[in-house]
Amino acid sequence: MHDSLITMAQRILKKHFDASSVDVKWEYSKEEGHGDLSTSVALQCAKELKKNPKEIADILVEELKKEEGIENAEMAGAGYVNIWLSASVLLKQLNETRTACTAKVKRKGPPVIIDYSAPNIAKPLGIHHILSTVIGQSLKNLFVHTGIDAIGWNYLGDWGTQFGKLAVAYEKWGEGNPVSEMDIDELLALYVRFHAEVESDPSLEDDARATFKKLEGGDKELRAFWKNIVEVSKQDLDKLYERLHVTFDKEIGESFYEDKMEAIIKEGVEKKVFTEGEEGALIVEFPEESNLSPYMMRKSDGSTLYSTRDMAQVRYRIDEFKPESILYVVDVAQKLHFEQLFATCEQIEWKLPQLEHVIFGRMKFKDQQMSTRKGTALKLEEVLDEAVRRADKVIAEHGDSIQTDDSEELGQMMGVGSLVYGILSQNRKMDIVFDWDKYLSFDGNSAPYLQYTHARARSVLRKADREEVDVPEEVENLTDKERSLVNVLLQFEKVLLQARDTRMPHILTNYLFALCQEYNAFYNSEPILKAEEPARTLRLCLTSLTASVLKTGAEILTIRVPDRM
Ligand code: ARG
Repeated sequence: MHDSLITMAQRILKKHFDASSVDVKWEYSKEEGHGDLSTSVALQCAKELKKNPKEIADILVEELKKEEGIENAEMAGAGYVNIWLSASVLLKQLNETRTACTAKVKRKGPPVIIDYSAPNIAKPLGIHHILSTVIGQSLKNLFVHTGIDAIGWNYLGDWGTQFGKLAVAYEKWGEGNPVSEMDIDELLALYVRFHAEVESDPSLEDDARATFKKLEGGDKELRAFWKNIVEVSKQDLDKLYERLHVTFDKEIGESFYEDKMEAIIKEGVEKKVFTEGEEGALIVEFPEESNLSPYMMRKSDGSTLYSTRDMAQVRYRIDEFKPESILYVVDVAQKLHFEQLFATCEQIEWKLPQLEHVIFGRMKFKDQQMSTRKGTALKLEEVLDEAVRRADKVIAEHGDSIQTDDSEELGQMMGVGSLVYGILSQNRKMDIVFDWDKYLSFDGNSAPYLQYTHARARSVLRKADREEVDVPEEVENLTDKERSLVNVLLQFEKVLLQARDTRMPHILTNYLFALCQEYNAFYNSEPILKAEEPARTLRLCLTSLTASVLKTGAEILTIRVPDRM
């Protein structure tokens, strides 16, 4: 419909003003009572046509009114044109909303690789790890849902001197307990102890470095030790990923690139991109105008670094998957690192896919107690448990107004969902504020509100004994509330694409929130089950579409919604 509206407007402008190839855009109206769609084309081309915008808008209104499928048109403001489509035209489009609720068939073509979560192992996940994890997973889901092959990649931090530290600590204070039987907290305790003891005995650092060298050199015992740690860590991670509905296609961490760095060092040196820095280290220098500090590729003692492995990771992904792009969903603290990495890949003249650092801000706590907890980071698992406890409390407080067959499951859904929604509903580029009250609020931009609205819609359908309801054809008129709801529903697909292409999950949460508000306004003002036909079928259809869109949208965001609540 948009396309034919564009040509319609162009035809009118050509006929009356001899204007050719005008760029016409139709936007969904933002306010009730301003029609379904609106365009500012009269304002845009007034100057060029040497006409008053109102004059152009008037002509457009007069002509558009005569067109089939347009119920009404009016001029607004300084020269905007608003139009109301006929019920049948609007309703026909609703089938596309239904289609947008199922994942598109995967298009042929290169995949997108999304690098997210990627924790450094051997310690429990902290609350801040949730950011990359859920932003990355939602982006992956957005790509897959819209038909693009996306590879979710957990680039585990499973290599580096910290394993030397752990081995030294284990040797000294492990008391001979088999590593495979330790849990993640015990591993953390060893790590923490190492850092405490190093204060008084700096030589431990050297031991750790030497031990890591031995591990790199292939020492059998150390390898076995390291492997055990990886296993213990993965078990712990998997528990949390399952709770968060997070899955990966690849879990290939830094250790995998160990034997792939040599070739890159060689290439970099040959191409004179890696040059000798202080004490024999290898560094990359960038042109002055780039304002980037030098990037280290190899330390003076010959060991490789995070940066070296990231180069190897880019190379490997290009060779194996020929991706269209690689997205790195990583903390803003690594901004410089990625700028240097991407610039180095350019300097070494690799044929590159689009490389993008999908940045997110820091977590800020509203609750002082959470932010001031000293020492070890707040554990993600504990925060998830706390979220569920708080959700249980909210459910209990609501008494009979919440009906559920399984309040335990509802508590999980609501608790975890609140936390995830609370994060994803914020602009990721800003600091992300952690605020329990807001996250768990029942009538705000929150998971409980979304979940409640979904359950409400499902309940209407249950009472009508219907599941999916087809779009009725015989409806001739729409009430204002119906019309607004239809217009919000029609925007679902566009919103998915927009959230995907800007890598901004909050565009989707904003939309779902608006849909909840629109549905609830409709629900409160129009009878559904008691309405006459064909309004009854139409209203049930809008109810079923609302439920589908809410569920689909929530699941893209890794959130689950209940059928009853
Ligand atoms: N493990 C790193 C960290 O915790 C994040 C890795 C991000 N991905 C990458 N390819 N560098 O800081």
